[in-house]
Amino acid sequence: SYLFSTIAKKVAAYQEANPDKEIIRLGIGDVTQPLAPAIIEALHSAVDEMAHAETFHGYAPDLGYEFLRSAMAKNDYQAKGCDIKADEIFISDGAKEDCGNIQEIFGTDNKVAVCDPVYPVYVDSNVMAGRTGTYDADTQMWSDVIYMPCLAENGFAPELPKETPDLIYLCFPNNPTGATITKAQLQEWVDYANKVGAVILYDAAYEAYISEPDVPHSIYECEGARTCAIEFRSFSKNAGFTGVRLGFTVIPKDLKSGDVSLHALWARRHGTKYNGAPYIVQRAGEAVYSAAGKAQLKEQVAYYMNNAQYILKGLQEAGFTVSGGVNAPYIWLKAPNGMTSWEFFDYLLENVNVVGTPGSGFGPSGEHYFRLTAFGSYENTVEAVDRLKKIQL
Ligand code: MLT
Repeated sequence: SYLFSTIAKKVAAYQEANPDKEIIRLGIGDVTQPLAPAIIEALHSAVDEMAHAETFHGYAPDLGYEFLRSAMAKNDYQAKGCDIKADEIFISDGAKEDCGNIQEIFGTDNKVAVCDPVYPVYVDSNVMAGRTGTYDADTQMWSDVIYMPCLAENGFAPELPKETPDLIYLCFPNNPTGATITKAQLQEWVDYANKVGAVILYDAAYEAYISEPDVPHSIYECEGARTCAIEFRSFSKNAGFTGVRLGFTVIPKDLKSGDVSLHALWARRHGTKYNGAPYIVQRAGEAVYSAAGKAQLKEQVAYYMNNAQYILKGLQEAGFTVSGGVNAPYIWLKAPNGMTSWEFFDYLLENVNVVGTPGSGFGPSGEHYFRLTAFGSYENTVEAVDRLKKIQL
């Protein structure tokens, strides 16, 4: 089943059998801090608008409300020197949905390349579409997927594949490893995709966590990305919308497959199968770009990154091999003493009541690794690190 559903079931079973144990959940990347005041205010005022015929809103426009698409184009792209216009943005109820659905506009014989380990949605949605061939339980690989190993030896950054793909999924800052690539490295991918005629599906859900200067926030910072890249953005991690649901996808009008416009194809798909994120949620999204919203969210991101630093430092002191956590809310650690990822998961759940995510759940190259998130409360994060420091293996 879906990785995070499997984990939730295991944890629920353990809790049922041990009702007195206080489990700390640093598994799924779900936020814990409340919505920022500017967002709550926007939600209240949009709800009030829905109570009056003159200000009531029914179906949203196909691509989303202009007020939000303009704010996105201006703040996320034009202010950062990226040539993206409001009418190249499609608003949705989340990046997970868009990452999973985007493959529908491509042929079923298209060859997909993914990082290994990888956010499971990219692979699983292609499996469901019948694009991945047969599964080998021993290698845990699909015959028709190109896996690009991201290991300690290559700094958890994928290398250009030997076999030429049609679709390349990239996610930076990375889920699950927390690794990043520089703008020059991303430019190599853009040049490669333009050369071989591949489309890069770039998941930038964690861009708000970038703290270092040479790490690109958008693939459109690279020359030539308008002809080879689609970008996904989320409001879940930068603004705490995991339960509110809002995201968007950028498809530049220059992006073509042969003479077919991918923007037009996605517009057709979006219009046919989707009725838009709710008006009140899109107004909440607009508040993310207000001066107050920006200031409040900067603090929220800093809160989680403080947790990341705490975990990183604490585990380093305890002798773990750790990475990530500098430009991303994920910490990637090596399971001690050669334990498999699931052995370490069970060990931590049963002995110190801390939940993380087994690296092997993200792909075969994640075996022997383990992911912790920085999205817990500070108090829980401190307690979890204390418990991890005490384990005797
Ligand atoms: C994760 O834990 O990997 C995230 O929750 C993924 C997501 O945002 O769907």
